[in-house]
Amino acid sequence: MTEPSSDEYASTQDAADVLRAFRSEFLIPRHGDREQAYFCGNSLGLQPRGARVHVEEVLDKWAAEAVEGHFREPAAWMPYHALVREPLAAVVGAQPGEVVAMNSLTINLHLMMASFYRPTRERPAILMEAGAFPSDHHALESQVRFHGFNPATDLIELQPDEKDDTFSIQAIEQAIVEHGPRLSLVVWPGVQYRTGQAFDLAEIARLAHAAGALVGFDLAHAAGNLPLRLHDSAADFAVWCHYKYMNSGPGAVAGCFVHERHARTDRPRFAGWWGHEQDTRFQMRPEFVPTPGAEGWQLSNPPILGLAPLRASLDLFGRAGMSVLRAKSEQLTGYLETLILTRLPETLQIVTPREPRRRGCQLSLRVIGGRGLAGRGAGRDLFDFLATQGVLGDWREPDVIRISPAPLYNNHADVLRFVRAVETWRA
Ligand SMILES: Cc1ncc(COP(=O)(O)O)c(C=O)c1O
Repeated sequence: MTEPSSDEYASTQDAADVLRAFRSEFLIPRHGDREQAYFCGNSLGLQPRGARVHVEEVLDKWAAEAVEGHFREPAAWMPYHALVREPLAAVVGAQPGEVVAMNSLTINLHLMMASFYRPTRERPAILMEAGAFPSDHHALESQVRFHGFNPATDLIELQPDEKDDTFSIQAIEQAIVEHGPRLSLVVWPGVQYRTGQAFDLAEIARLAHAAGALVGFDLAHAAGNLPLRLHDSAADFAVWCHYKYMNSGPGAVAGCFVHERHARTDRPRFAGWWGHEQDTRFQMRPEFVPTPGAEGWQLSNPPILGLAPLRASLDLFGRAGMSVLRAKSEQLTGYLETLILTRLPETLQIVTPREPRRRGCQLSLRVIGGRGLAGRGAGRDLFDFLATQGVLGDWREPDVIRISPAPLYNNHADVLRFVRAVETWRA
């Protein structure tokens, strides 16, 4: 068998890749006279070629039809969000009526909490992970305060119990049981942004519900990365963004899931005219009648130019299929892991869990040492060196480099290039 760190091995694997044609559907940034090895899909996914096509369609329609573009097919703007509904539901494992593309992630988190965080004196608390993405922490803390409760006692932040800041399901269960009688809501990530750990959403939802709490997920790093089964997981709500693995551009319109059992909820919500039932929206009456399902949480008419790239991205996900993408992702991330363990054991430490079911594309790497440097200094030095070689990962304070091979556009040759660049740095 050929040596995994050889060009021959990488090119044989890439030639056998059933998804190899998808790479050319993306615009890969250049580094000098070659393509970058781009591993930042966990931060900003690459631009699908179709994004420009769909954006230009909207611009052309606006130029040619102006206000009539709202009603004239094809791709009329009035029902435009419905164009992404089914393909998006397929990516996150939901029913079409359970998803909507709207706003940004943090806004959607607040909108969901307006409905699903209804604290009482007996149950004022939210359980979340310690070390969450700051925006989630800000959102949850401000919600607790907004309702007149005290984050010091009512925002419960579970500390990681495993090495490298990961969580066992036992620790999550123990916390839910311990705080259960006071819990109103559990908010948990699908994939932790710094460690890359993936969680069993159905199990966390089951535990939260058994304790009498509701549960919502932040899927910023999970959507388009892992095959999700949101409906079956029984989560009450979920939110995510589309600029990472979903490749829909900087600040792209985000996603939101509301389980169908809440489709006709009379829980309070923050309402706007676009969430009003569609048949009577233009009767312009003052009373609010929500459209059933996730679309009932829309506030404003959507930014059509913002939704256009999502159409291009969803087309690629639909053609590739999440299970095929996942199979390639496991192979590619496994290849990265093997090469790090065999060729770079004294340079890089893998923070992300080793079991494929506990991670997605991303490996979070701590730089142990090299070039006579140690700790954060070594990490920053390597990170900067990689950029000079056209190998782009990203840096997360205090000491982690995240490398995320995305199965739609990365290949084994990219991974090999990363490993060789680290070897050159270390030499
Ligand atoms: C885990 C997580 N949550 C929340 C956010 C915030 O997203 P937004 O700025 O789209 O609200 C991000 C952004 O990267 C994130 O990674």
